[in-house]
Amino acid sequence: MAATSDSRSIPWDWYSDPSVALLEQRAIFRRTWQYAAHAGDLTEPGSFVSTRAGDVPVVLVRGRDGTLRGFVNVCRHRGYVLCDGAGRRETLQCAYHAWTYDLDGSLRSAPRTDTEADFDRSGHGLIPVAVDTWGPFVFVNPDPAADPLADHLGELPQLVADGGVDVDGLVFHRRTEADYEANWKVCVENFLECYHCAVAHPSFAKALDVAPAAYLLAEHPTFSSQYGPPKNGGGGVYDAVGEVGRGQFHLLFPGTTVNVMPGRGNLSIGPVIPLGAERTHRFLDYFFLPETDEQWISEFFELDGQVGAEDRMLVERVQVGMRSGLVDDGYLLPESERLIAHFERLLVEALADDAA
Ligand code: FES
Ligand SMILES: [Fe+2]
Repeated sequence: MAATSDSRSIPWDWYSDPSVALLEQRAIFRRTWQYAAHAGDLTEPGSFVSTRAGDVPVVLVRGRDGTLRGFVNVCRHRGYVLCDGAGRRETLQCAYHAWTYDLDGSLRSAPRTDTEADFDRSGHGLIPVAVDTWGPFVFVNPDPAADPLADHLGELPQLVADGGVDVDGLVFHRRTEADYEANWKVCVENFLECYHCAVAHPSFAKALDVAPAAYLLAEHPTFSSQYGPPKNGGGGVYDAVGEVGRGQFHLLFPGTTVNVMPGRGNLSIGPVIPLGAERTHRFLDYFFLPETDEQWISEFFELDGQVGAEDRMLVERVQVGMRSGLVDDGYLLPESERLIAHFERLLVEALADDAA
């Protein structure tokens, strides 16, 4: 893989080439920590949540012993995806031929196998993945030998806390989900610059100061951060004055976004998940402090939904342009788009490590 200079982007054919998408799954998504669920869905013994890490289906299960475990959500018999949605179970039973797994992933029973020669139940347990938490946020890494989540998060929890958000005091409010006709990197890179905010997000730019002198950018080893103070108390868009003094928008490599708006205690978090080369799934879990008033939350979501709709149009239109095949790459502003350059460096390094 060729290295990128700071002002040239990575090649645009990396945004539609299925072989690059496969390489990214192997080199990045199958071996990094990604946000997967919120702990409120996994409090009781037997509670489970199906989720994914990149293209790997994952099921998270709270065991009878209280331990939170994660498994590849794939039946060891014929590969049927084992669990759907979320709920509570005594066992995990596959709906195809009824192989039944205990909450610790071991295979408990498999119809007719007792009369088949040489069947060893112990060799057919669910494949484990690494699971760890930051406050109410549950992360998954498909590599069971992964370094601890804390190493990947680095200073991020401290920065969020310093910004006025006590993650342990937050309450889950809702999840939003959407698919995009764009490569996952287009979605991430759109998130990583606010150069477009004044042009493409008029309401956001009224509520937050998006001028370069006020809107600050910072790179960290595994994540990057943007900080936006409120403008005129939120400019009439929403009330941006509260215990959270400024917005924080972090991208934890490869695709977990952490968003905090100025105002009342709030945070949203979720992964950017590639669905093949030109399609992306995202979900965001929104949290607020328990006593946050509904009117404030509703104005918050009005702005959030508007920005989301504007970003959808942007990324899907960029995807059409990048796939045209007649433009090799793009230009990254060395200052205003330096977080994109940082992301592309991490990406190129991860792909090169895989090739080494
Ligand atoms: S695929 Fe699950 S029991 Fe056959
Ligand atoms: Fe945007």
